[in-house]
Amino acid sequence: MAIKSNDFRIKWLIVGLLAGIIVTVVLPDFFLLNNSNTNQNINLANSKPEHKFAEYSQWPPFLTDPTFDLLAWRKHCWANQMSLPTGDQKLYYKKNFTAHAICRNVIDNIQSIYNIETKIASVQHPTMFAEKIKKLFNYDAKLYEKALDQDLYFVMNKYSFEETVYNPLRGRRPIQQPEIPIEQYLKETMEKTSQVCDLCNYQKMTATDSLGRMENRNAYSAANAFKFDQWHSMFMPKQHDITKITLEELKDVYTLAWKWIRAVHKQSPSHRFPALLWDSLPHGGASQVHPHIHATVHSNHYYGQFESIRSASEQYYRDYKHVKNQKGKNYFRAMQDIHTALNLTIPLSGLTILVPITSRKEYDIIVLAENFDERFIEVIYQILQGYFNKLKQYSFSSCLYLPPLSPNKDDGGLTPVYFRIIPRGQPSSLLSEVSSLDLFSIYNVNKLPSDLFAEIVTWFKAT
Ligand SMILES: *[C@@H]1O[C@H](CO)[C@@H](O)[C@H](O)[C@H]1NC(C)=O
Ligand SMILES: *[C@@H]1O[C@H](CO)[C@@H](O)[C@H](O)[C@H]1NC(C)=O
Ligand SMILES: [Zn+2]
Repeated sequence: MAIKSNDFRIKWLIVGLLAGIIVTVVLPDFFLLNNSNTNQNINLANSKPEHKFAEYSQWPPFLTDPTFDLLAWRKHCWANQMSLPTGDQKLYYKKNFTAHAICRNVIDNIQSIYNIETKIASVQHPTMFAEKIKKLFNYDAKLYEKALDQDLYFVMNKYSFEETVYNPLRGRRPIQQPEIPIEQYLKETMEKTSQVCDLCNYQKMTATDSLGRMENRNAYSAANAFKFDQWHSMFMPKQHDITKITLEELKDVYTLAWKWIRAVHKQSPSHRFPALLWDSLPHGGASQVHPHIHATVHSNHYYGQFESIRSASEQYYRDYKHVKNQKGKNYFRAMQDIHTALNLTIPLSGLTILVPITSRKEYDIIVLAENFDERFIEVIYQILQGYFNKLKQYSFSSCLYLPPLSPNKDDGGLTPVYFRIIPRGQPSSLLSEVSSLDLFSIYNVNKLPSDLFAEIVTWFKAT
């Protein structure tokens, strides 16, 4: 009896074992049969670890003039700039636009990088709450109607995966005034901090790196006491108060940083990827009120966030390399073309200012250029003046990525000069302007790019 029941158990054990083998070994293979990538992934795992950094192609050069006929596009295709072109073509394009090849080409170009779509988010309000919202919009019936069916514009960059949702209605909410008026906050902060400022007292209170102290009329260098890269230095105007910075001072700061970057590269030729990072005021992440720009020169590749854009542009180039009549496209130039078509660029020969349709924040501005020169610094200065005087934005974060240093003739992945700036909220406010949206998911912006564009064209009227 005992033996029999053991037999029975063993039989079931074998059945169970076989079933287990089928589930763990045979079934997954069966399901993955059609997925030809599986084997390839396994091979990749065994191949050399250093990724594509060394495998950039030689892209067509970045140039700032458009590759399409802007006048023809405006004449035959582009109807208006009410928002962002989405599914409903009637709203954005002229009646007969399909009859013109240029319309198709430019729209194809837009769609080659971006997905743009509108979604409607509906809400219902109980009576008392409805009253509150109506009051918020000053009893503007049209606006209130919009509040019940809100237009959301989603823009996704299919290569870099930057994604933004615009809800212009949120931007129409009355703005809460900061606890302390901004002018008073700035005045008090500057007075208080200038008396105990290490950066004002730099000869005694700042470190230097192996290249020593660099200095010119209005600016000087200092090593960061706590570095975030092998080659990492800081460049300061001697002036403490950012709101009073002059063009000459800004030029001296950037010129000195550029001199240091070349000195680093001369000493260590493998360091080829320069970045200049600038945060303004403690609310913008700066540890000191005194303006200071971080300059770094990285080896092998750019810092991850910019390298991901560079990598997106390599992918874009490869995707269009074999397309007839295109002979490969420069991603940055295509992006610039798209923004020009959407009336979001200011061209200044050799340099383009644009309001990105994947903005990270309200007032996000990008400048692309063929060369880094004095005019470029003038444009940065002009943008800062607009931020300060027109938008009352004193706290910001910005980056300036310069093209790779001393490229060889056959060297790939040459990026343009790339400057980007975003405001970092009211400096006197306790409220952080960064949230899980910005850090982990999607950028939420409440002003359409065309609104900011209408503002910044006025800053560059005279130039
Ligand atoms: C549309 O464009 C085509 C080609 O330019 C032209 O022949 C046609 O007359 C246009 N139609 C209208 C309604 O404008
Ligand atoms: C482009 O935008 C500016 C600023 O809003 C506006 O003045 C201009 O008329 C627009 N141009 C076109 C062709 O839509
Ligand atoms: Zn100072």
